[in-house]
Amino acid sequence: MLYSKKVMEHFTKPKNVGVIEDPDGKGIVGNPKCGDTMEITIKVKDDKIDDIKFRTFGCASAIATSSVTTVMAMGKSLDDAMKMTRNDVAQELDGLPPHKMHCSNLAVDALHKAIENYRENKKE
Ligand code: FES
Repeated sequence: MLYSKKVMEHFTKPKNVGVIEDPDGKGIVGNPKCGDTMEITIKVKDDKIDDIKFRTFGCASAIATSSVTTVMAMGKSLDDAMKMTRNDVAQELDGLPPHKMHCSNLAVDALHKAIENYRENKKE
C-alpha cells in the first residue's frame, strides 16, 4: 500500500492530539465498515475555530486525515469549516489509496458534528 510522504508525516507525528476540556463543541463518529471511531473537540471565538483537538481509535489513514483536518480547520470560520470535504483533506495529504478514502470521512464528519453541536448549544 502506497502512502504519500504527507500521510506518513501526519501518521507518525500527528498534530492537535488530545481532548479540549470544557469544549464549545464536540463531535464523535464511528465508521460502521471498520468499527473505528473519531472524536473532535473545538473552542470557538468570533465564529472561528480557536482551538481543535482529536482522538482517533483507528487506522493510519484515519489518524493522518484527522491530524490534517485539525490543521486545516484551525482558525477557519465555522462556515468555511463546514464546507470542508473529504476530498479537500485527501488532496492536502497528496492523495490516499482509493480503498482508504472512506477513512477520511471520519475526520470531516466529526468536525462538522462538533460545529453543529456548538451551534445547538448556543441556541439553548
Ligand atoms: Fe477504519 Fe480507516 S480502516 S478508518
